[in-house]
Amino acid sequence: MRAFADKVIWITGASSGIGEALAMAFAAAGARLVLSARREGELQRVAGQTGLPGEQLMILPMDMRQSETFPYQVAMVKKKFGRVDVMVHNAGISQRSLARETLVDVDRKLMEVNYFGPVALTKALLPLMTAQGGGQLVVVSSLVGYFGTPMRSAYAASKHALHGFFEALRAEENANRIAVTIICPGYIRTSISVNALNEKGEKHNKMDEDQENGISPEECAGKILKAIAAGKQEALIGGREVMGVYLKRFVPGVFSRMIKGYNIKSR
Ligand SMILES: NC(=O)c1ccc[n+]([C@@H]2O[C@H](COP(=O)([O-])OP(=O)(O)OC[C@H]3O[C@@H](n4cnc5c(N)ncnc54)[C@H](OP(=O)(O)O)[C@@H]3O)[C@@H](O)[C@H]2O)c1
Repeated sequence: MRAFADKVIWITGASSGIGEALAMAFAAAGARLVLSARREGELQRVAGQTGLPGEQLMILPMDMRQSETFPYQVAMVKKKFGRVDVMVHNAGISQRSLARETLVDVDRKLMEVNYFGPVALTKALLPLMTAQGGGQLVVVSSLVGYFGTPMRSAYAASKHALHGFFEALRAEENANRIAVTIICPGYIRTSISVNALNEKGEKHNKMDEDQENGISPEECAGKILKAIAAGKQEALIGGREVMGVYLKRFVPGVFSRMIKGYNIKSR
């Protein structure tokens, strides 16, 4: 995909799953990459797989909850590449617990990683994007950014919050040529359920059937690249579960009946 040749693409959550597949796809498209996540060893592994030489690649470990480090991280990327064409906010954690049983600290952790992290990193990056004449912010939300489902109260809240913030930002930053693309995946075969938090904040540690039967991260990444290259405002990616968005919009009563109790029995 020629649209990305030589472009600087910064991906958070690049150590596994969708982020890893995005790194491979962007590398194949000739981009220069900044790979971020907490596990440096896994970032090294992904970096090696891309086959990119050191001058086209930067490994930048970071924790999305430590927003005080973001201005420094942006300065490091500026020093290496001088610009960021596409920022992909992909890092995230999910949830497997009932709202009534979930500690508020767990709700806060999900909001910190999934919502405040991308918000703070965007704010640290906007001056550079403005100075370079524009850029593209890509937000990996979820279908639950459109509707809440059982066992995902905090996760759905964090993804809904992303839509509110980045839709407002899109309208504000249009004059600065900064675009926003919101990606809403359905079920993708990654470790998202294994890494999801239970009501006490412990790892769920199970591969859920929905994820196991989902589309591959590589297929998802290919569709994300197409949506970014086309400058789409939003893209729904997945199997027939994406129909949920249309059911909720056009027949909300039917959707509400369908979603009652969903997932609770499969805890
Ligand atoms: N898979 C799905 O079915 C699905 C569906 C809808 C949306 N999504 C979204 O897709 C995105 C990627 O998830 P995935 O499916 O690829 O799951 P994944 O394999 O568990 O990847 C999650 C990524 O986020 C990073 N991460 C988690 N906590 C972090 C923190 N505090 N600071 C920095 N990085 C952190 C992880 O890296 P480290 O552990 O190394 O930090 C990892 O690279 C998420 O935003 C998720 O909500 C996934």
